[in-house]
Amino acid sequence: MGDIHHIRPATPGDAAAIRSVARASWHAAYDDFLGRETVDAVTDDWYAVDRLRDSIEAAESHLFVCDLADADWGSDRSVNDVAGFVHVSPWAGESGVGHLKRLYVHPDHWGQGLGTALLERGERALEQAGYDRIRLEVFAENGDGVGFYEARGYGGVDEECETLGGETRHLLILEMGLE
Ligand SMILES: CC(C)(COP(=O)(O)OP(=O)(O)OC[C@H]1O[C@@H](n2cnc3c(N)ncnc32)[C@H](O)[C@@H]1OP(=O)(O)O)[C@@H](O)C(=O)NCCC(=O)NCCS
Repeated sequence: MGDIHHIRPATPGDAAAIRSVARASWHAAYDDFLGRETVDAVTDDWYAVDRLRDSIEAAESHLFVCDLADADWGSDRSVNDVAGFVHVSPWAGESGVGHLKRLYVHPDHWGQGLGTALLERGERALEQAGYDRIRLEVFAENGDGVGFYEARGYGGVDEECETLGGETRHLLILEMGLE
């Protein structure tokens, strides 16, 4: 196995692998409160390969993957080499605020430091782009996820609701200042 913290910018060819990591991670983390069917429906929509490719190519957003393969990024890689990803973009409607849109690690690799490394890469990308703050939304029922962010300096600023699978879900909005 190569360097487990090898993080690189995503390419359009990573879209299918990102989708597959997202689906596995959503099922492992969210089935208990969203239910399997809702997780399947939402990930089909939000992680459609074409939409992911558009996000990867969009100038204002940055996606990074943690790639477990040994470093020869020019060669063909198995989709299973991608163990996690982070996606950051501007927070719509508020200048100076970056949006941590997505942070997912495949459940086979939870607890190995990949999530922290990906989070720091996303924070750095926003810092380098000149943002002062980073903000994210997390399901209120995702206690482990909320704890992960709180342990890394994030604090609650607001709450909002979103309808998923016909039910209202509560989201916490957390944020942190960037250096
Ligand atoms: C949250 C997440 C990205 C963390 O990734 P990770 O690679 O396990 O993170 P790390 O190994 O760097 O750190 C693990 C930390 O998260 C905590 N943690 C949260 N959920 C965990 C889980 N299911 N298994 C192991 N550790 C978990 C651990 O307590 C640990 O905290 P500590 O380092 O402060 O002691 C990952 O668990 C994940 O993809 N979860 C599902 C999706 C999610 O909640 N995303 C964030 C909200 S959008």
